[in-house]
Amino acid sequence: MRWIVTGGAGYIGAHVVALLRARGDAVTVLDDLSTGQAHRVGDAQLVRCDLKERDATRAAFLAARPEAVIHFAAKKQVGESVAEPLLYYHENVGGLVSVLEAMRASECRRIVFSSSAATYGVPPVEVVDEDTPCAPINPYGATKLIGEWLLADAARAYGLSTVALRYFNVAGADEGRKLADPFALNLVPIVLAAHAAGRPVRVFGTDWETRDGTCVRDYIHVVDLAEAHLAAAEKIDGVAKGRVYNVGCGRGFTVLEVIAAAERVIGQPIRREHAPRRAGDPPALVARAERIERELGWRAQRVSIDDIVGSAFRAR
Ligand code: UFG
Repeated sequence: MRWIVTGGAGYIGAHVVALLRARGDAVTVLDDLSTGQAHRVGDAQLVRCDLKERDATRAAFLAARPEAVIHFAAKKQVGESVAEPLLYYHENVGGLVSVLEAMRASECRRIVFSSSAATYGVPPVEVVDEDTPCAPINPYGATKLIGEWLLADAARAYGLSTVALRYFNVAGADEGRKLADPFALNLVPIVLAAHAAGRPVRVFGTDWETRDGTCVRDYIHVVDLAEAHLAAAEKIDGVAKGRVYNVGCGRGFTVLEVIAAAERVIGQPIRREHAPRRAGDPPALVARAERIERELGWRAQRVSIDDIVGSAFRAR
């Protein structure tokens, strides 16, 4: 099968590219390399392309003639999205419009979209399913929700097959391929980087109503997440138009439990300091991930937090 993977030089995208290449599929990666790294695409074809340049994007699609697209390329920092909302709407919504136009021009009918649990905002329940109301609390989450709407509208109008995957907290790495997250922007890489630098980890909030006072999140191994994309692409023609799926494990760990896992993996104590609650953090956010298992036959396999944190540590 022939694929275009936008953002395939990034953390999650590169894991999907590796799985597709391992089974012999033809993959063209479109990436502007603003945060992606060329070496991460391995032997896939890399086209340096800014999706906001619509003519260049269309030309890349016409050259590659993909049968399916997996669309990762986007901005994903919550804080930055609050400070620079126009950048996020341009990149995340404008980029998707450009991809959908290029799909029409090249008669490509299938797209798997990278969405986020950020679409839920601060939900009233700890365990969220896809029918939990979406109420994003920052521009990043808003652009992902708009992306889902855009896909659903395009699916109905143009007969496309679309799936949006709402990721929970992605962590870990394919150790063999050394595809660790190169940035320390999320808890697991932050803990590993802080320890390596001899700095304490700041724990945002220790007085939440959770089992140890710190926030609970549903950490999912990036290789499991990559496999979810392949499952989605395989079944995409048979699912309802504009379908969305949670992609998580259905269980959560606290910040202190993640730090404890890192201590077991590294074999050394990790210093931490208490910090105030971070604005916009829900106390607990865990996926109900039954729809994706029922409809796409995917279920997370690498659910041990020690395996997730350990893979990130060993892949550095
Ligand atoms: N945390 C700390 N210290 C740190 C960093 C994080 O205590 O230095 C805590 C956070 O407060 C949170 C947990 O660790 O409780 C996880 O934080 P992350 O920043 O790693 O992840 P988030 O849950 O905030 O965000 C993730 C994705 C976002 C997405 C969001 C949606 O990274 O892209 O889920 O729920 F928007």
